[in-house]
Amino acid sequence: MSIDIQQACDAYQRHFKAVPTVAARAPGRVNVIGEHTDYNHGFVLPMAIEHDTVIVGRPRDDNVLCLYAQNLERSAELSLEQRTRNEQEPWTDYIMGVADQLVALNKPVSGADMLVVGDVPVGCGLSSSAALEMAALVFFEQTGGFKLEDAEAALLGQRVENEFLGLSTGIMDQFISRSGKKNHALFLDCRSHAFDLIPAAFEEALFVIANTACPRGLTASKYNERVDECKCAVATLQEYFQSSGSHLRDYTMNDLLACQEMMEDIPFRRARHVISENERTQQACEAMRQGDAALLGALMNASDISLRVDYEVTSRELDIMTAIARECSGCFGARMTGAGFGGCTINLVHRDAADTFCTHLLHHYAEATGKDGDVFLSDPADGACPLAL
Ligand code: GLA
Repeated sequence: MSIDIQQACDAYQRHFKAVPTVAARAPGRVNVIGEHTDYNHGFVLPMAIEHDTVIVGRPRDDNVLCLYAQNLERSAELSLEQRTRNEQEPWTDYIMGVADQLVALNKPVSGADMLVVGDVPVGCGLSSSAALEMAALVFFEQTGGFKLEDAEAALLGQRVENEFLGLSTGIMDQFISRSGKKNHALFLDCRSHAFDLIPAAFEEALFVIANTACPRGLTASKYNERVDECKCAVATLQEYFQSSGSHLRDYTMNDLLACQEMMEDIPFRRARHVISENERTQQACEAMRQGDAALLGALMNASDISLRVDYEVTSRELDIMTAIARECSGCFGARMTGAGFGGCTINLVHRDAADTFCTHLLHHYAEATGKDGDVFLSDPADGACPLAL
């Protein structure tokens, strides 16, 4: 685990003047491929990373959540009787959102003193919010003495985003944060929630995550816009085929081409991305199983082009960074990862070339943008779990 639990407990003791009795952690994630497919009921291939959100605390015998975010040095005291968003302390919304959804499920949620600490980079597409939600859920599971099934846990996190926060996100981030497995990527069918853990070790290659150091501007509204554009494409497909297929998952590229004339250009291109990305993700899963880095890299490059040209969720900095990466020797493939509009890229790089790749990438990125990017390596990590104290 990336966070020192003893240090977290010491910090808790300093802040709350008591010893914590409950601890939970949940990781961030990086998506290898399968972008903007989850809310279209398609396929994704993420892995959990070795960066965690940790919560240590103890239950209270009232209905108050006393929260302290160590990274932000912010605290808040909230009543579980008024489970609303908090504009002054928006970081608390993820915890309150989880509590609210648990109450809706009739699960016991008591007040608690909780210290939150983490090293999942915030706002750069590595799902720090899902990590916080899933850590909070594991915390409440322990204080309430219940345990949700993994898919149910992920769905609860998704409802926090959809209903409490108003973001139309899919299920990928919470699912991988809850169900990730060390050294494995997770191939998930976002409709049935069936999944396969795929060993993610390549003999000759490793993943390099690179941060453009550009916060994701306007992500929420642009994201919801994409969701609506996909729905618009589905409406045309349904009409043309007189079909009940409810999501882009239900249609093939030939279906889409058949009704191109009836569809506006934007929904057409959004649908073309999603349908082709679903195909690529299934192929990528097979490439990963075979340890075929060259094929996986080619699929990652194709995904990135599709996200740039058809889905239009990259940014100038993301495009510069992936272009530089592809020119480096030893790079099998590079793409933006996560929602887009800024944030991180994921690169599949020859092991022997990894050091020079990182140096070269950062140097040329800074030269082209004037920005200091950042790179890190992470083996695939385990999903959320309670921590022994
Ligand atoms: C965000 C959302 C996910 C998914 C990705 C794009 O991370 O939370 O549900 O849609 O964007 O693939």
